[in-house]
Amino acid sequence: MLDGKLITFEGPEGAGKTTVLAIIAQRLKEKYKAILVTREPGGITISEKIRDIILNPDHIEMNEHTEALLYAAARSQHYFEKIEPSLKEGTLVLCDRFIDSSLAYQGYARGLGIDNVRKINSFAIGDKLPDITILFDLPPEIGLSRITANQERENNRLDQEHLAFHQKVREGYLQLASKDKERIVIIDANQEITKVVEDVWQALLKKLI
Ligand SMILES: Nc1ncnc2c1ncn2[C@@H]1O[C@H](COP(=O)(O)OP(=O)(O)OP(=O)(O)O)[C@@H](O)[C@H]1O
Ligand SMILES: [Mg+2]
Repeated sequence: MLDGKLITFEGPEGAGKTTVLAIIAQRLKEKYKAILVTREPGGITISEKIRDIILNPDHIEMNEHTEALLYAAARSQHYFEKIEPSLKEGTLVLCDRFIDSSLAYQGYARGLGIDNVRKINSFAIGDKLPDITILFDLPPEIGLSRITANQERENNRLDQEHLAFHQKVREGYLQLASKDKERIVIIDANQEITKVVEDVWQALLKKLI
């Protein structure tokens, strides 16, 4: 039994995950001593290197199987090197994207099949799932327009996909949420940021008590 909890932040590009996660982590620090903020793909040296390969805009030849396997490889190393040891110490781990990203993007939107991608991930990390998942939901064109407005953000390979792909990502996420209502909380991310933060905060308080 692990004492900590794994909370993941999911949703499409520009949904506000990284921005809101930072604010929520700050607030949680007032309540919990041990908080770890991390991200996928990445979080540790090896997985950050895999991240560079996956997201490099020059890697246009990468096929969807390679992509799914690289995400799973990065996740395995990240999980066993950093997340699981932290959970064992009782830490509240906040992770920016996790397995549902692979299921929604590679499984559903890329068409590999959610169950196939689940199998790869089961090889990578076993049957582990987050304790709580916050799903930032919004029309993809709004997320994408926020990204275009933010010039400082890295431009990555997946940003270049068509709107139809991002629409499928949204559908994939909503399908996953409809099948796991206990774990996945849908948040309306198409609101003012203060309201999004408040909704996420209330959802977490409810689940953490
Ligand atoms: N609710 C909001 N309303 C308006 N702008 C927002 C809102 N939330 C975030 N933003 C802005 O949108 C941009 C993208 O936000 P952020 O980087 O947090 O998204 P993300 O979900 O982490 O995206 P990615 O998946 O690409 O990492 C930032 O410039 C951020 O300031
Ligand atoms: Mg982000």
